[in-house]
Amino acid sequence: MPTSRETIRFCGRSTNGNLIHMSVRRLIIVLSMLLVLLNMGIYQTGYRTDRTLIVNHEPAATVSIIRGPTVHMVTNHSSRIMWKTDALTNATVEYGYSDSNLNMSLSNATLDNIHKVNLVGLEVNTTYYYRVMSNGTSSATYHFKTAPADGEPFKLIVLGDNRPSSDTAPAQPQVFSDIMDQVIAENPDIVIMTGDYVYSISTSDSENWNAWSKFTNVSDRLGHYVPIYAVIGNHDLTDWQGTPKPQYFLDAFEMFNEPKLYSSFDFAGVHFTLLDSEQQGYEGQIRGEQWSWLVNDLTAAGNRTKFVFAHRPLYPLKHIDSAMDVNKTNRDELQQLFEDQNVTLFAAGHDHLFNRLTVNGVVHVITGGAGAPPYNNPWGGAYYHYFRVDVCTETINMTSVKPDGTGVETYQLPYTGPIEISIRVVANNSQKKAGTIPEIYFSKVPTVVHYSWDSGANSSTLTGIPDIEGEHTLDIYAQDSTGTWSHARFVFTAIVTSTTTTTSTTITTTPTAQTSTGQVLIIPLMLALASIGVVGVVIVVIVWLTKRS
Ligand SMILES: [Fe+2]
Repeated sequence: MPTSRETIRFCGRSTNGNLIHMSVRRLIIVLSMLLVLLNMGIYQTGYRTDRTLIVNHEPAATVSIIRGPTVHMVTNHSSRIMWKTDALTNATVEYGYSDSNLNMSLSNATLDNIHKVNLVGLEVNTTYYYRVMSNGTSSATYHFKTAPADGEPFKLIVLGDNRPSSDTAPAQPQVFSDIMDQVIAENPDIVIMTGDYVYSISTSDSENWNAWSKFTNVSDRLGHYVPIYAVIGNHDLTDWQGTPKPQYFLDAFEMFNEPKLYSSFDFAGVHFTLLDSEQQGYEGQIRGEQWSWLVNDLTAAGNRTKFVFAHRPLYPLKHIDSAMDVNKTNRDELQQLFEDQNVTLFAAGHDHLFNRLTVNGVVHVITGGAGAPPYNNPWGGAYYHYFRVDVCTETINMTSVKPDGTGVETYQLPYTGPIEISIRVVANNSQKKAGTIPEIYFSKVPTVVHYSWDSGANSSTLTGIPDIEGEHTLDIYAQDSTGTWSHARFVFTAIVTSTTTTTSTTITTTPTAQTSTGQVLIIPLMLALASIGVVGVVIVVIVWLTKRS
């Protein structure tokens, strides 16, 4: 199974016999010319959407496919094939039911260097093999599968935060490449990426295309076979001057509703909603037009299973108060909307770890482990991974998977166990100021709940950490509608602040005291010297008068 763009290029040229039969001398000359061209930055123009850069508007005699082909927007009856060439060319997709019989084709005679061909009238849940051709240059043959019928099983892979760890080394992490190889081996039906694909957006276009092409060089290896959808991350949008530059993100992915950064679609009867958590000025919030759109989108989806995605989580473990909890009112409205609309899964990234939390029936997953350095935290989950969701006819099975394919944490819906009791913001075994109220979440709304500090009396109201220095226990008891009780115990060490001191008074008086001290020292000294002087004068006068007498 060809997996690299280099293979496509070689296959395309070797078909014409040009490179294979070239003499060594001519080969050296051509390679030298290519190196010169690369140093001139001409290689970058292939990634640009600015067609004015291409001055030759005649059909090119020989062309190279410089990106793709990749498959996008796959439904149970259609798909879009996209690729780029280094010159304006025509476009043809040849496809069929086996790689040895591509007996169907669709062409576009319009000359272009970005090619998007929509295949329609496809059969449901069917594997199609395809290759693309531009002015006689063909790609390797790949394959994709149309969506299953509504309600039929499919495999979803979610991954995110693959970004490099610094600007100075924009190459993608090796672990991201390893994870992509493993995801290709998984043969998923659909892939969602949860943001932060590059380290930063530069003010330099060439630097941006360079960084993003390093990303697409890896992601397209999977994109040959599977539609990849994505939400935008905080590292992907604005440069250091605060100028939003979504064009690179939009170029890397081909999705519904572009150029908007939020969209939705159905796949096998499941409704997918992709949110933009990076709206400038409202980072970490869903507001305005997008909020209205989201309410309508989820409402219109009716009783379909609903999966929602954004870059920032609602209940972060590391980016506390700078994820979707930056405005807790908006966060709680979002959670309430998800509950009201029966959203099954909300998946995000941003925190470089894996975590699952169920809040009132909505499963929240943080899957930010595809390449950036994992975050150590009290809740665990700091390992590289991707997230697999097997949507079956009766169940949904979720697993975090390490780059070598080893499953780590699993969860199944429908969930039939007792109520899960979870804590956020204030970690178990942490030190916090007395009076701090921990955030407690239940996997479903309890019929009865009791809180007890230090094994004392039960209360239906959660109060803050007792104002007594030392360790305190919090016992929580929750009963579900079947009468089953759940129990969780958390431990905190109270930091008790002492009575307010007069430190500020001391600070303000200190300089005065120093000045006074100086005056106290100087004035008596001057008085002493003056006194000595007067006494001396008197002695001299007496001696002089004595001598005269
Ligand atoms: Fe992020």
